[in-house]
Amino acid sequence: MRTTSAELLLICVLAAAALLAPDALQVGPASGSAGTNCIPRERDALLSFKHGITSDPLGVLASWHKEECCQWRGVKCSNRTGHVLRLHLRNLHADTYTSDEEIMGVYTRDTALVGQISSSLLSMDRLVHLDLSMNYLNGSSGRMPEFLGSLTRLRYLNLSGIPFSGRVPPQLGNLSNLQHLDLSCQFCNEYMYSRDISWVARIPKLQYLGMNSVNLSTIVDWPYVVNIIPSLKALDLGFCSLPTSKQSLPHINLTKLEKLDLSSNIFAHPMAQSWFWNLTGLQHLYLANTQQYGQAPDALAHVTSLQVLDLSYNRNMGTMTTSFKNLCNLRILDLSYCQIGGNIKDIIGRMPQCPLNKLHELHLRSNNITGIMPSEIGMLGNLTILVLRDNNLNGPVPSEIGMLCNLTTMDLRGNFLNGDFTE
Ligand SMILES: *[C@@H]1O[C@H](CO)[C@@H](O)[C@H](O)[C@H]1NC(C)=O
Ligand SMILES: *[C@@H]1O[C@H](CO)[C@@H](O)[C@H](O)[C@H]1NC(C)=O
Ligand SMILES: *[C@@H]1O[C@H](CO)[C@@H](O)[C@H](O)[C@H]1NC(C)=O
Ligand SMILES: *[C@@H]1O[C@H](CO)[C@@H](O)[C@H](O)[C@H]1NC(C)=O
Ligand SMILES: *[C@@H]1O[C@H](CO)[C@@H](O)[C@H](O)[C@H]1NC(C)=O
Ligand SMILES: *[C@@H]1O[C@H](CO)[C@@H](O)[C@H](O)[C@H]1NC(C)=O
Ligand SMILES: *[C@@H]1O[C@H](CO)[C@@H](O)[C@H](O)[C@H]1NC(C)=O
Ligand SMILES: *[C@@H]1O[C@H](CO)[C@@H](O)[C@H](O)[C@H]1NC(C)=O
Ligand SMILES: *[C@@H]1O[C@H](CO)[C@@H](O)[C@H](O)[C@H]1NC(C)=O
Ligand SMILES: *[C@@H]1O[C@H](CO)[C@@H](O)[C@H](O)[C@H]1NC(C)=O
Repeated sequence: MRTTSAELLLICVLAAAALLAPDALQVGPASGSAGTNCIPRERDALLSFKHGITSDPLGVLASWHKEECCQWRGVKCSNRTGHVLRLHLRNLHADTYTSDEEIMGVYTRDTALVGQISSSLLSMDRLVHLDLSMNYLNGSSGRMPEFLGSLTRLRYLNLSGIPFSGRVPPQLGNLSNLQHLDLSCQFCNEYMYSRDISWVARIPKLQYLGMNSVNLSTIVDWPYVVNIIPSLKALDLGFCSLPTSKQSLPHINLTKLEKLDLSSNIFAHPMAQSWFWNLTGLQHLYLANTQQYGQAPDALAHVTSLQVLDLSYNRNMGTMTTSFKNLCNLRILDLSYCQIGGNIKDIIGRMPQCPLNKLHELHLRSNNITGIMPSEIGMLGNLTILVLRDNNLNGPVPSEIGMLCNLTTMDLRGNFLNGDFTE
């Protein structure tokens, strides 16, 4: 019998492995609950992944040497087949830091895994869940690896907070089983871009799409692309440099969409011309700092599921004409820094007026609101936060403010109020 040198080498390696770790050869997924479940090929793949990690300050991968890879931290296998199904190495120690109650950034440097994402992951072809978020796994190229598009069983892919640069690989469109895709990188120093997101429309079951801070500045047709995915429940396209939201969709497919975040895209057109007011199922709508001007259109009155509406920092709203009266589910309304003019009595009169008033937070800081606070404020019985700081209010604060039993924060600084102020 002839033996090639490669075969000889293999025999020697196997023999050495058997000597060093006799258990290693007793692997068998069919062997039931006793013994090890771990599939050798997948264990090797995990070890290769570990080799790609150059720094692990918290020792997250410290257990990644034992025989039974299914018990390694972050690894979950099928107890029936032994295949790795989940790899969950999210960095949970990413601390945000704030200034004046706004999040300014995230510290991850001292806690993150650093290195690259090894293509050895492809050996784990049953993987359904991959979460590597908030780690510095941007590798030596800084690019998001194209091979991720071959992990076609994935239902959940979270790469948020990994500071990749360069193009988002359109190969991700091959992940036809995905339900959650999160590529957001808010507060990163590096930014990705995409000039064509038509690949997204090839993911028919997508429920969550997060591309916060990916530069999409050339994509004028973005609402048409997302509208092809009726399963979408949440869409985060904040800080994407989207060029406009002034499109008109002939037919709205997005009936399941509950959460839309378009914060900090500069849409310098009238707010009423945006297409998304026809999304009547929305519960959370974030439009802070989108530089839309004028008021929300009357169509807002049909978005009765709305719970959170953030329109802050849209600096040219002018006189309030919008009515929030029948938004009975509204919990948080943020209209800070909108240059809203008009009388406070008129504005309070536009707030939800429902048998059960759920409004908990009303933010009207830094507008140009005038007049005397009306007794009707007492109708907003569930308010916990009321901010009217830096306006032009005058006169006394009405005693009805005492009806707001749940109020924990009331900020009226920077006005011209007077009179007694009792419990
Ligand atoms: C795997 O084990 C867990 C708990 O040990 C059990 O709840 C689950 O049903 C098992 N799954 C299968 C597919 O056997
Ligand atoms: C992805 O991970 C980040 C943090 O690690 C988390 O905040 C975010 O909710 C996750 N995305 C999804 C879709 O679960
Ligand atoms: C990876 O990200 C870090 C943090 O943003 C950055 O300092 C580094 O330059 C990036 N690496 C490459 C190769 O782009
Ligand atoms: C994956 O996607 C790319 C780009 O969208 C495409 O060219 C390629 O054929 C796809 N591969 C498979 C196996 O479907
Ligand atoms: C996005 O990309 C465009 C075109 O490359 C560029 O002009 C713009 O400055 C980028 N936006 C940001 C916020 O980096
Ligand atoms: C609505 O969704 C279906 C299914 O994805 C798609 O075929 C259709 O083109 C979409 N309609 C519009 C107007 O985009
Ligand atoms: C919203 O829907 C109405 C009728 O359902 C339609 O006339 C209007 O053009 C739509 N607006 C946008 C911006 O798509
Ligand atoms: C406050 O909210 C609770 C629970 O949603 C509700 O039962 C109660 O009636 C509300 N109070 C007012 C004054 O609307
Ligand atoms: C605020 O309103 C007053 C009186 O209506 C007006 O004179 C002033 O220019 C307004 N200020 C701003 C910043 O809009
Ligand atoms: C205050 O909050 C409690 C629970 O959060 C709620 O049950 C109660 O109705 C609220 N009070 C008023 C006056 O609405």
